[in-house]
Amino acid sequence: MSGQTSRIVYVNGNFVPEHDASISIFDRGFLFGDGIYEVTAVLDGRLIDSAPHMARLERSVGEIGGYLPMSTNEIVDIEKTLVEKNNLNEGLIYLQYTRGTEDRNFLFSRDLQPTLVMFTQAKRLDGGEALKQGLKVKTVADQRWARRDIKTICLLPQVLAKRIAQADGCDEAWMVEDGLVTEGASSTAYLVTHDGKLVTRANSTATLPGCTRIAAIELAREEGLAIEERPFSVEEALSAKEACLTSASNFIMPITMIDGKAIGDGKPGPIVQRLRKLYLEVARRTAV
Ligand code: PDD
Repeated sequence: MSGQTSRIVYVNGNFVPEHDASISIFDRGFLFGDGIYEVTAVLDGRLIDSAPHMARLERSVGEIGGYLPMSTNEIVDIEKTLVEKNNLNEGLIYLQYTRGTEDRNFLFSRDLQPTLVMFTQAKRLDGGEALKQGLKVKTVADQRWARRDIKTICLLPQVLAKRIAQADGCDEAWMVEDGLVTEGASSTAYLVTHDGKLVTRANSTATLPGCTRIAAIELAREEGLAIEERPFSVEEALSAKEACLTSASNFIMPITMIDGKAIGDGKPGPIVQRLRKLYLEVARRTAV
């Protein structure tokens, strides 16, 4: 375990020290990966993009035929309490929902009580050195299932993809299917064309509908960029003006290298840097 070691975490109705927190080995999240998660950023002790995260949580849980044990307002209150109890100024809140606990059986009982866990993670979100250099991306085959719009806790393909990327000195993996980039292992993928268009896939079952993506697209539009929601190839990204990713844990970050080849002059571009600045202003203003 790294980072904070004396956190107060939330487990099924209780706020407890992390060392006292436990989940059954019969939990369906553990046995089947039968669960959903959300990651929400915290800046200045407040939740970023909370409403879209809660909307996506409700949707994901609905898509697997589950139900939330409480309202999303109550969940947000718990998240706020965790921020307060842990004095979290900057970092992340992780939320995990699973269908519940019972003897192992692919089929599940109707009356199962869901498991709900939340914890904070202190983390600097200012981008650090990576913001100055831009991120390096490694392309890998997208080996995930056909419902990537559901934010499932089954993340083995992403774990393996990121390990391949890291072994090659890269910060993120871009997953490629049929010659086209689907998304990052834990982020949405974009390029900026030489004539000022922001290109990213349309939401579909092929990718996770990013919460950060919503604000990024809106800001880009306000900045006068045309938005093209369509897939793009690695070759197109390599010949683009700029490239970037968005996620709750990185906000908007420039990408300057793909598979060891530089995009443009290999430096973070002005459009992406401006979008990041604008995003952070709006995110702080709308934080709860
Ligand atoms: N991941 N695509 C994938 C596959 C992701 O896992 C994520 C987020 C995103 C971006 O979504 P958002 O902007 O809502 O964070 C896109 C989180 C941060 C994670 O797994 O840690």
